[in-house]
Amino acid sequence: MTAYDVEPGDSVHPGDPVTVDRYTTGARANHWITATCLVLLALTGLALFSPWLYFITAMFGGGQTTRAIHPWIGVVLFFSFAGLFIRFWRANLWKAEDGTWLARLRDVLTGHEERLPEVGKYNAGQKAVFWLMSILIIVLISSGLVMWDQYFYGYTTIEQKRLAVLIHSMAAIIIICVWIVHVYAAIWVRGTIGAMTRGQVTGGWAWRHHRKWLRELVGGKRS
Ligand code: HEM
Repeated sequence: MTAYDVEPGDSVHPGDPVTVDRYTTGARANHWITATCLVLLALTGLALFSPWLYFITAMFGGGQTTRAIHPWIGVVLFFSFAGLFIRFWRANLWKAEDGTWLARLRDVLTGHEERLPEVGKYNAGQKAVFWLMSILIIVLISSGLVMWDQYFYGYTTIEQKRLAVLIHSMAAIIIICVWIVHVYAAIWVRGTIGAMTRGQVTGGWAWRHHRKWLRELVGGKRS
């Protein structure tokens, strides 16, 4: 039996081998540009954060180049993430089932998905990561602009810059942790990486992890 794509109006049985479209090429390109920016920002940022990590600057052509490119990569990340935000914010709105899902985190971690409520395109964990990333990126860009002396030296005081350095570093550490959780979850839930590489998931994956989304995709559009 060959796999087939689910089209609006098709009836789907859990036993059928199906593939389901999850991300367009544009969304995937947008995602990987954002991801590349965050990795580069983490590396250049850590290099500037501590003398112990200064050796990383060698990867970017030295200390001055690292210092010069770090804020610009931040600007690219900001606009790139804004693209992701526009695409996905609606699917990340909090729903009644998300509270129940979160309360049963033990079942999530022990693989008892039959005890969980049916979830839409994203589960509560993914939604939490999405909103945390959104808030942290706003904090990072705002505090970054305050200390971007090359262009905004005269606009802020030394005290404001000092506070900005502290906030920027704390937000950076938190977003690196959130990013690790995001990547770990993407690898841990088998079949998820394919969503962002090929743009598709198997029907089994959608049925098991995002059943409400699959039902909406198949049945909702018909009605
Ligand atoms: C570099 C390592 C990364 C990997 C391997 C990765 C992997 C993935 C995968 C597999 C998905 C699809 C999840 C699904 O459809 O259920 C996804 C979604 C997503 N990723 Fe990443 N990602 C990475 C980095 C990032 C970064 C750095 C950001 C943002 C700063 C980001 C933001 C998102 C967003 C917003 C979604 C959509 C999920 C949602 O809206 O809740 N990712 N990622």
